[in-house]
Amino acid sequence: MKPPGVSNSEAREIKYLRLSITDSCDMRCGYCVPHRTSIAHVADPLSSEEIALLVNAFAKNGVTKVRFTGGEPLQRPDVTGIISSIVGIPGIETVGLTTNGRYLKKLAANLAGAGMRRVNISLDSLDRKTFRLITGCDALNDVLDAIDAALGVFEKVKINTVVMRGINDREIPAIASLAMSLPVEVRFIELMPLGHSASEWDMMFVSASEIRRALGNIEPLPYSGDSSARMYSLNGGRSRVGIISPMSEDFCYGCDRIRVTSSGKLRPCLRLPVEEDIRPLLRDTELPARLGEMIGRLSHHKLPQASLESAVQAEAMCSVGG
Ligand code: 5AD
Ligand code: SF4
Repeated sequence: MKPPGVSNSEAREIKYLRLSITDSCDMRCGYCVPHRTSIAHVADPLSSEEIALLVNAFAKNGVTKVRFTGGEPLQRPDVTGIISSIVGIPGIETVGLTTNGRYLKKLAANLAGAGMRRVNISLDSLDRKTFRLITGCDALNDVLDAIDAALGVFEKVKINTVVMRGINDREIPAIASLAMSLPVEVRFIELMPLGHSASEWDMMFVSASEIRRALGNIEPLPYSGDSSARMYSLNGGRSRVGIISPMSEDFCYGCDRIRVTSSGKLRPCLRLPVEEDIRPLLRDTELPARLGEMIGRLSHHKLPQASLESAVQAEAMCSVGG
């Protein structure tokens, strides 16, 4: 999203690392793992020691915020250890995780104890049947319980809803009303064609402007610089919802993120098939400097607005890291 008054030619400063710690997941959300996707699981994902080493080197290169993604990051048995090994790293200000929520209730207190402050939970439907249709799992109640548990221990809890026509679009007002009854931020996300055919995507895509219409009484809030979501106040300012519109609106502008896939590839952009293997650097005594060069080289590929065509060619989110 383009903040007002900032020019297009400004150099990208990378501050936000999204690190996929596993590509396995116990769910099968249609938008993340399209049916035709076969996932060749990574045999040896980055170890907890490698992750700590890497985050240290990213911090030395200006990264202040880390989010663990997957697959489902809570599938890693050592996830709590990974969190505690990076929270104290000088320069790292926030550590968060994006989860499907199924096993979060059990782990929430330990994760918070390890120093995790923020969690994003996927919730695409409040209807049991629709939830199962989307995720392939009968886990709606587990996720709702996880939201309650998370609210008790984390500073910030966000709910992510990917909107799909004919599947969950009629639930937009009901899901938004969670932001009125609970201290959560609800974000509606436009479907990205990652691993989908153009026609599959076309049928299911709901644009940000349609989401705004479905929300009804909303007012735009000033750009906070802290998120890829455009924020709105709902029902006269009593709560906030966000819309993330990677497809229909100016989105890539000013993006300060970089990704590491579970197989240890550095990717400058979700939409571009550009990556470099980070693993050989881990053995280099000059790791921070080598990583800095790689970040500089790859972040050059970031565009003011990556094209939809490149997104259509990109692979499923579960293998890149959401
Ligand atoms: N389009 C948009 N968001 C997606 N996610 C996964 N796949 C897609 C997609 N095709 C995001 C969702 C989900 C998180 C794990 O990744 O926000 O909640
Ligand atoms: Fe698993 Fe999350 Fe992908 Fe769903 S969106 S399949 S829960 S990684």
